[in-house]
Amino acid sequence: MTTSIPPSSKSLEPSAHSVPPPSRSGNVTKQRRKLGVTLGVLFSVTFFAAMLPSRGQHLRTPGQMNTGHELVECADCHRAAPGTLRQQLQANVRYLLGLRRTAVEFGAKPVSNQDCLACHERPFDRHPVFRFNEPRFEAARRELGPQNCTSCHAEHNAARVTVGGGFCVQCHSDMFVHDDPLDVPHDELAATERWDTCLGCHDFHSGHVFELPTALDARIDAQSLDQYFSGGPNPYPARPRSTARAQRPKPPDEQRDSSVTPFRHTDHKP
Ligand code: HEC
Ligand code: HEC
Ligand code: HEC
Ligand code: HEC
Ligand code: HEC
Repeated sequence: MTTSIPPSSKSLEPSAHSVPPPSRSGNVTKQRRKLGVTLGVLFSVTFFAAMLPSRGQHLRTPGQMNTGHELVECADCHRAAPGTLRQQLQANVRYLLGLRRTAVEFGAKPVSNQDCLACHERPFDRHPVFRFNEPRFEAARRELGPQNCTSCHAEHNAARVTVGGGFCVQCHSDMFVHDDPLDVPHDELAATERWDTCLGCHDFHSGHVFELPTALDARIDAQSLDQYFSGGPNPYPARPRSTARAQRPKPPDEQRDSSVTPFRHTDHKP
């Protein structure tokens, strides 16, 4: 290439050598992407600065760990994106400077159902998250998000369950039970909007095996349920059917390169 065209000159005729200018919409998309990456760089710098051990002691978390997770390692939920943080930052700074064609994922990936299920394998679950991707649950997805574990178990809240108990209404509002054994039948509970009563008899994941009461007054009271949600004792008359793995099983390819973990091991205390 011999002709170099100053970017400011406007009167040049199109030549075989000149690259056609990117369309305006292409430019806008590219600018948006760059803005996104810039924000990403800023975010990840702040994020990982916040992660650094304060005075060499514990990692800072956005809040106290949820029930049962006091000893779970940060990296068992916060999975590393490929590459070291330095490599990711370098790659994205190069992208911003136009020295690289694509941006890369930063630091940690978003926490997903797969991360939870890696330790909480629950084949008996009556309300498994994957079911709720079906089109008929669209409204429920918008209101409740039943397709994601973290909609109801938001982490770093020092709690077991972070959703109110009445959410059954999202899917069971036209409920009718044949030969209903209850002293106050299900359709009547629904008609009078007694959604606060459901978890007093049923658990959500069928994770406890017990005989269901048939008298409304025999249900678990609201206060005990509240306490259970916030981390207190289990009010259902049985231990949970399964216990979680204390450590996430690592796939062989991740075992090889443990240096990519963005979160360091720590003796984190609640
Ligand atoms: C049981 C899973 C789990 C464990 C263990 C865990 N976290 Fe989280 N953490 C989450 C979830 C879920 C979020 C919400 C953001 C998301 O979904 O990525 C979150 C958010 C965060 C955030 C806020 C960043 C953001 O994207 O909003 C920080 C910082 C963080 N965690 C640090 C830690 C540290 C440090 C540890 C170890 C002491 C830790 N986490 C352990 C699940 C976990
Ligand atoms: C490294 C493995 C691991 C990962 C990953 C993990 N957990 Fe746990 N979780 C545990 C352990 C261990 C316990 C305590 C033992 C138990 O209750 O089975 C626990 C307890 C819980 C409890 C309370 C159970 C009870 O009966 O008190 C809930 C709810 C829970 N985890 C939800 C989640 C969700 C949601 C995620 C994903 C954001 C997740 N867990 C990710 C290991 C894990
Ligand atoms: C729509 C809300 C909702 C979603 C989504 C949800 N849970 Fe739950 N979860 C609850 C409620 C309510 C309880 C308390 C009642 C009970 O024990 O079943 C609970 C209890 C639990 C428990 C303790 C009791 C048991 O069965 O062992 C664990 C563990 C748990 N959930 C894990 C998960 C995991 C893992 C996911 C995602 C795969 C998930 N939950 C998705 C609402 C939800
Ligand atoms: C996002 C939708 C959704 C929500 C929210 C929901 N359910 Fe369900 N539930 C279902 C579906 C779908 C089935 C049918 C499962 C099947 O056919 O296998 C079901 C089945 C059940 C069953 C019957 C299980 C069996 O053994 O056949 C019970 C009991 C139940 N739900 C109770 C509840 C309670 C209590 C709540 C609130 C804490 C609740 N559900 C919230 C969708 C939901
Ligand atoms: C007093 C205890 C009690 C309360 C409160 C209660 N249920 Fe039930 N529920 C039962 C019993 C008992 C059955 C019958 C179980 C069986 O036949 O295996 C049942 C059955 C069901 C079924 C299964 C129906 C079927 O066709 O298999 C669903 C769904 C259900 N309940 C949802 C709910 C919802 C939603 C609420 C809240 C409005 C609720 N239940 C409140 C005790 C209760």
